[in-house]
Amino acid sequence: MTAALAIEDYAFLEDDDCQARIVAAREKLGDRVVILGHHYQRDEVFRHADYTGDSLKLSRQAARSKAEYIVFCGVHFMAEVADILSRPEQQAILPDLAAGCSMADMADLARVQHCWEELGRVLEVDRVVTPVTYINSAADLKAFCGRHGGIVCTSSNAAAILTWAFERREKVLFFPDQHLGRNTGYQMGIPLEEMAVWQPGKPLGGLSEAQIRRARIILWQGHCSVHQMFRPEHIDRFREKYPDTRVIAHPECCFEVCQKSDVIGSTEAILKTVRASEPGSRWLVGTELNLVNRLRQEMKPRGVDVHFMSPMVCMCSTMFRIDPQHLAWVLENLVDGNVVNRIRVPEEDARAARLALDRMLALG
Ligand code: 13P
Ligand code: SF4
Repeated sequence: MTAALAIEDYAFLEDDDCQARIVAAREKLGDRVVILGHHYQRDEVFRHADYTGDSLKLSRQAARSKAEYIVFCGVHFMAEVADILSRPEQQAILPDLAAGCSMADMADLARVQHCWEELGRVLEVDRVVTPVTYINSAADLKAFCGRHGGIVCTSSNAAAILTWAFERREKVLFFPDQHLGRNTGYQMGIPLEEMAVWQPGKPLGGLSEAQIRRARIILWQGHCSVHQMFRPEHIDRFREKYPDTRVIAHPECCFEVCQKSDVIGSTEAILKTVRASEPGSRWLVGTELNLVNRLRQEMKPRGVDVHFMSPMVCMCSTMFRIDPQHLAWVLENLVDGNVVNRIRVPEEDARAARLALDRMLALG
């Protein structure tokens, strides 16, 4: 082991140079390292992933992996999940620690705990409410769910998770993404009037006791800054021009966008659906730009036309922080025997969070 290489020495390397260094470092590390890549990663990083997928697929992959090092090209909560689900001797690494998720940051333990206490003034909260956290959340919120009989969900299993929750208790507190909660609840037949938005920071979340008693789902007021850029009028304008268009959107998009879409699905589901479509079909896709650009290139030779939903550039700026420079830096450090940017969830939280994650994974 030598002194750790500094990221500053990589910052000005050309991308091509980094590509060669990544390939060489991976050859040296062999099976000791696995690289997981989320679908929103930029091409220059995505191409190095051993496994790609949505949050659910990648968390299953992390649980299954035997590699000593799990390098997560994604965002912070994903690397935390990899740490929680992997064995103690494995190490999860996030190439840039600044790769967070702005939605995950919209809920924190202190405010969720406060919400739980306030709900407890109105309801017998532990008997009546199941806390459900979207996987896009910090590990201590997953631990909160683990301790209170709750569960984690992802964008691809949210309906199954809500069904599980309603089989146990009559209400759900869903955080941090109000849109995923609302879109899924509505698809399951829960009317909008039975979903109430909890505004953190306001007494009783800005709700009356009657509203809380009536709600079947209490939705935390959080959202994704990328998916909020897709608007229903983008769909209307595009359909006016191309009436044969099919629209597919991620469930983090707002209710109005999802209502106008033909298909709603996770990143993995979006890829599967568009890839299975007939030549000559046209799709308008509401999710992050890197995924859509790659899909457009892939489908062009097959005669499938893929368009991005928004006239604006909607990229996940935190996913974008994982660049070839950071990937080369962590891998070359591993070759030298140095682990940089390890993500480690404190043991007690990891144990409770694992309960909530295992409940989810057990649902298949
Ligand atoms: P998926 O699980 O659908 O990949 O979504 C993760 C995410 O962060 C989308 O914004
Ligand atoms: Fe978070 Fe939105 Fe980026 Fe997904 S796209 S990681 S929800 S900020």
